[in-house]
Amino acid sequence: MPEHAPLPPPLAGTVVHGAGRGKGLGFPTANLAPVPGTVVPPPAIYSGWLARPATGGVHRATVSIGTNPTFGDSSEVHVEVHCHDTSDDLYGERVELWFVARLRDTERFATVDALLAAAREDVRRSDALLASPAGLRARPTAATPT
Ligand SMILES: Cc1cc2nc3c(=O)[nH]c(=O)nc-3n(C[C@H](O)[C@H](O)[C@H](O)COP(=O)(O)O)c2cc1C
Repeated sequence: MPEHAPLPPPLAGTVVHGAGRGKGLGFPTANLAPVPGTVVPPPAIYSGWLARPATGGVHRATVSIGTNPTFGDSSEVHVEVHCHDTSDDLYGERVELWFVARLRDTERFATVDALLAAAREDVRRSDALLASPAGLRARPTAATPT
């Protein structure tokens, strides 16, 4: 997707168990199973807001959409959300992702350390973008409790 392409619309889904690697890497992610029939945005790393209708909370997030090529997982596309400001267990919850910016292409890194360094830089950029006027404009108003 080119840098100037329009951002994907919000993506809704349920948090499910992933490979469980993220926690061990010090980069916990919530794996999202999109609502069946929704179009998943093109593989890339994104900055966005995670809305939790169950609590009304809106959280800062960095999102990885792709096949995790560094680990040669499979051809299955994963939607993984790293939340900056909560470590709550989201399993089974229905959440929404509101995309704010596309940060970069997904890469196949030579080492896990290189992946972690890139992910840390993604989160730093994502945090700055979310705090900017454009990021705050894109913030959904408090998610409606269900
Ligand atoms: C900010 C961020 C950036 C990521 N970038 C990449 C990437 O460029 N290449 C890649 O193979 N995986 C990338 N990932 C995905 C990780 O490989 C994945 O989160 C990790 O393997 C844990 O997977 P699991 O939650 O299914 O256990 C990224 C994840 C995050 C949170």
